[in-house]
Amino acid sequence: MTRDDAHAPHHWLPDTRAVRAGQRRTDEQEQSEPLFLSSSFTFTSAEQAATRFAGDEPGNIYARFSNPTVRTFQERLAAMEGGEACIATASGMSAILTLAMATLRAGDRVVCARQVFGTTVGMFANLLPRFGIETRFVDLTDTDAWARAICPRTRMLYLESPSNPLTEVGDIAAIADIAHAHDCLLVVDNCFCTSALQQPLALGADLVIHSATKYLDGQGRCLGGAVVGPALLVDSEVFSVLRTAGTTMSAFNAWVFLKGLETLAVRMRGHCENALALAHWLTEQPQVLRVNFPGLPDHPQHALAALQQSGPGGVLSFEVAGGREQAWRVIDRTRLMSITANLGDTKTTITHPATTTHGRMSADDRAAAGIHEGLIRISVGLEDVRDLQADLAPALDGR
Ligand SMILES: Cc1ncc(COP(=O)(O)O)c(C=O)c1O
Repeated sequence: MTRDDAHAPHHWLPDTRAVRAGQRRTDEQEQSEPLFLSSSFTFTSAEQAATRFAGDEPGNIYARFSNPTVRTFQERLAAMEGGEACIATASGMSAILTLAMATLRAGDRVVCARQVFGTTVGMFANLLPRFGIETRFVDLTDTDAWARAICPRTRMLYLESPSNPLTEVGDIAAIADIAHAHDCLLVVDNCFCTSALQQPLALGADLVIHSATKYLDGQGRCLGGAVVGPALLVDSEVFSVLRTAGTTMSAFNAWVFLKGLETLAVRMRGHCENALALAHWLTEQPQVLRVNFPGLPDHPQHALAALQQSGPGGVLSFEVAGGREQAWRVIDRTRLMSITANLGDTKTTITHPATTTHGRMSADDRAAAGIHEGLIRISVGLEDVRDLQADLAPALDGR
């Protein structure tokens, strides 16, 4: 084997895959991955063009469905998640849509955790019904409810774990068993943990969804998404929808994400450490009614999280008395934290889920999901945690 054949040897451990998998050096012998900003690729002859279009010869054609930088990102993320194949998309939502269009038909049914990201709820509750696909929502943590919600036309079970913003944890292995007993696919959005902390495919899930916009980038720069899973499904049906619908990741964004993946493991360790320290500190603040974080021993699924995740993650939420007015006041009084809806950034972000990320849900659905008006979500960054505490203390005090 030459050096450049080593795209992702199976013996590489996860941190090595994150740094090196998928890289093929060109004749320029560059150290870092090249960025191919080219919307199309040339052929040596009309005959080669015909052969490529016919699928009889591998190679680049047109960047809506083939670009070397995007391919490197796909191969690296697939290796990190332990999946056979990956399709990169323009955003996390386009990953979910592309997968739904690839795997579901009119008349099919989905069972989805009630606690998924607000726009994902919107996709399943409002958009997909226009194409004849209906969804039942169940409590992520009530494993029996998943089995009860399945009907003969159910094709897909969908969840995020930990959930956004309450950090509830679903039993991925148990729900995968239920899915497979009913001939359904289990899809897990692994955005909060990433492959650095949780491997849904190894736990039995069939497919992983990413919003690369979050931790995979890690520095709040680009939108992107991905679907990871078996080659038989991803390289054929998911790819075919991507090629037709053009839900494609840009090459520039793929390059940024590649650089993000290289530091993912160390960043996730830092996020976990800071979030745990901040969560413990928040539990000691008299103005805080409740802290949601899987790393706290009193979290309802603390033991399950410790079993299926190698770290608690970097996102926590907490509730203050006084509802929306007081939550907004606390957020507005912080000076260091960024008031923004994104998460997974090295910069700590603070947000009010009920009026932002989950604002499109009906008040009843929000209440059923436990997203109260006094809830604040923090995506804990990599600043010194003492500065984060110093930012929050006067904000909570009303100083
Ligand atoms: C858990 C989760 N999944 C999916 C998405 C959608 O990703 P994107 O914004 O990249 O479309 C988000 C976005 O915030 C999210 O938090």
